[in-house]
Amino acid sequence: MENLSLENFIKGIPKAELHLHIEGTFEPELMFEIAERNNTKIDYSSVEELKSAYNFNNLQEFLNIYYTGAKVLQKEEDFYDLTWAYFLKAKEDNIIHTEIMFDPQTHTERGIPFDVVINGISKAQEKAKLELGITSKLIMSFLRHLDQNSAFEVYKNYEKHKEKIDAVGLDSSEVGNPPILFSQIFSKAKNDGLKITVHAGEEGPPEYVWQALDILNVHRIDHGNRSLEDVNLINRIAQQQIALTVCPLSNLKLKVVRDLKEHPLKKMLDLGIKVTVNSDDPAYFGGYINENFLATAKAINLTKEDIYKLIKNSFDASFVCDSHKKQMFERLEKYYSKTNFIYK
Ligand code: ADE
Ligand code: ZN
Repeated sequence: MENLSLENFIKGIPKAELHLHIEGTFEPELMFEIAERNNTKIDYSSVEELKSAYNFNNLQEFLNIYYTGAKVLQKEEDFYDLTWAYFLKAKEDNIIHTEIMFDPQTHTERGIPFDVVINGISKAQEKAKLELGITSKLIMSFLRHLDQNSAFEVYKNYEKHKEKIDAVGLDSSEVGNPPILFSQIFSKAKNDGLKITVHAGEEGPPEYVWQALDILNVHRIDHGNRSLEDVNLINRIAQQQIALTVCPLSNLKLKVVRDLKEHPLKKMLDLGIKVTVNSDDPAYFGGYINENFLATAKAINLTKEDIYKLIKNSFDASFVCDSHKKQMFERLEKYYSKTNFIYK
C-alpha cells in the first residue's frame, strides 16, 4: 500500500466532474488574451484588477460578472480555446470523464450564432478524447432569467446538433424563477430522449427541488443544498437515489455556507444521498475539482471511504452507458486498493 499526503491522494485518484459551466472556467489571463485578439474591451485594466472584483455576496452578484466576462467570447476558436484550456486542467486533476454545461443564450442573445458556440466546444471535446483520453458529455443549459419561449427558440438548434448534445439543464438566477415555468420545454427534451439536470435548492427553497423532481422529471439536481430543510424531500432524494452535484467552493464564495466547516456534504453522505463534488465555475470560485476535494476534506475531515464514495457516486450518476461506468469503477478500485493517505 502506497502512503500519500491527502493532497497527492486526491490529485491521483481518477474522478469525474458533473457540474461545470464552461463559461465559468474562463480564466482572466485567457480572457485578456482573447479580448486583445478580438479587439474588444474589458471593463478592467488588468488581470489583477479583474480578479479583485471576484468578491460576491450572493449568486446574482457573481452572475453579473460571469455574463460580462462571457461577452469576450465571439468566434469558434474562442470557444475552442476556452474548452481546451479546461480539458488541460482536467487532465492535471486526473478527471477521466466530465459533463460540461454551456449557456447558449448568453451568446445567441448578443448575436453569436449557436453553431459557432457548439462547434468550438465540441471540437475541443473530440480532441480531448483522442489526445488526453478524457471522455465528456455536453449539457445545454437554459437561462431561467429568460422565459420559456427563449428556451424554445434556442432548442430549435437541437435537431441539427443532436449528436453533440446529451442533456439539458437550467441555471442562472434561481429565486423568483421556479422550475415549473419551464415544464413544457423539459417535457419536450425528455420526449427527445435527453437527460435532465436542473439547478435547484442553491438559493431557492425546497419547493423548487420538489418541482424539479415532480414536474421536470430530472435525473440529477445541481446543488440541492436547501433540500436538507425538508425531511420528506431528503427522504425522497435518498430513496430514489437522485444525485446532488454539490460544489463546496462555489457554496462558500456565493455565501450559501458561511464556512466550509459548516458544509453539509458529510451529512448528505451520512443520509445515504448520492452526492458528488464539483467545481461549478472554478475560474471565479478559487479552485478546480481537486481544490474542492482538498479544502472540503480538510474542513470536514472526509475519510478515505468518503472520498471513494463521492467519486463512485460521480461515475454512477454520470450520463454514460453501464459498460463505460464499469470501466471507470475499475480504475477507481485499482487506485483505492493500492493507495492510502495520511492527514498532516
Ligand atoms: N451559472 C453558472 N454558475 C451558476 C450557479 N452556481 N448557479 C446558477 N447558475 C449558474
Ligand atoms: Zn452551476
